[in-house]
Amino acid sequence: FVDPSFSDAVISWQKQHGRHSLPWQNTSDPYRVWLSEIMLQQTQVTAVIPYYQKFLASFPDVQSLAQASSEEVMSHWSGLGYYTRARNLHRCAQRVVAEYAGVFPRDPALLQDLPGIGRSTAAAIAAFSYGVRAAILDGNVKRVFARVFGIDGYPGAKQVEEPMWRRAEALLPEQGVESYTQGLMDMGATLCTRSKPSCDACPLAKRCVALATDRVAQLPVRKPK
Ligand code: ADE
Repeated sequence: FVDPSFSDAVISWQKQHGRHSLPWQNTSDPYRVWLSEIMLQQTQVTAVIPYYQKFLASFPDVQSLAQASSEEVMSHWSGLGYYTRARNLHRCAQRVVAEYAGVFPRDPALLQDLPGIGRSTAAAIAAFSYGVRAAILDGNVKRVFARVFGIDGYPGAKQVEEPMWRRAEALLPEQGVESYTQGLMDMGATLCTRSKPSCDACPLAKRCVALATDRVAQLPVRKPK
């Protein structure tokens, strides 16, 4: 089941108001997409940009990264934080070279088996690199869904997250998964922000349960203590 009006609204918004010139956009090179998605997992776009550019200048492809020493990789990551990401990045590059002849697989299940790639990151890489129709569900998208669908319950909890994944899959468009995925990410980052969201500019406002019931500030539910 597909809800075309939901995905159409996201795609049209993305085309008109989304971000189009981030350094990892306008490429379908899976190496570049993967590198950006790993850097963006726990770091804001503005902080990632200079690291991403320097990293690519030093390691332009997965082979060069796989062959680098751990020290070299770490020195390029230094300052970005969450250093497990850098160790996994290096190991992932080595596995892609050894197991896939340097070509990232397109199946999200195979991507997810690689170090540092979770379910949402695997879907983002498959969608942006290969146009695979796969659902993402990161923190920003959980916030959008919790509000639009009025989902009570902490989205980090399995019994809340599992139905959210099913909803994310049901909402995927038949066509245009790249724009749709980028649109969800951009709406979460620029419109449907944690505090002071821009509901007046949101293409989902007329179907937003949280807005209709005046619960935008209460959703998503915070982590229980
Ligand atoms: N956060 C995670 N992935 C992103 C992307 N591709 N563009 C912008 N922000 C992101």
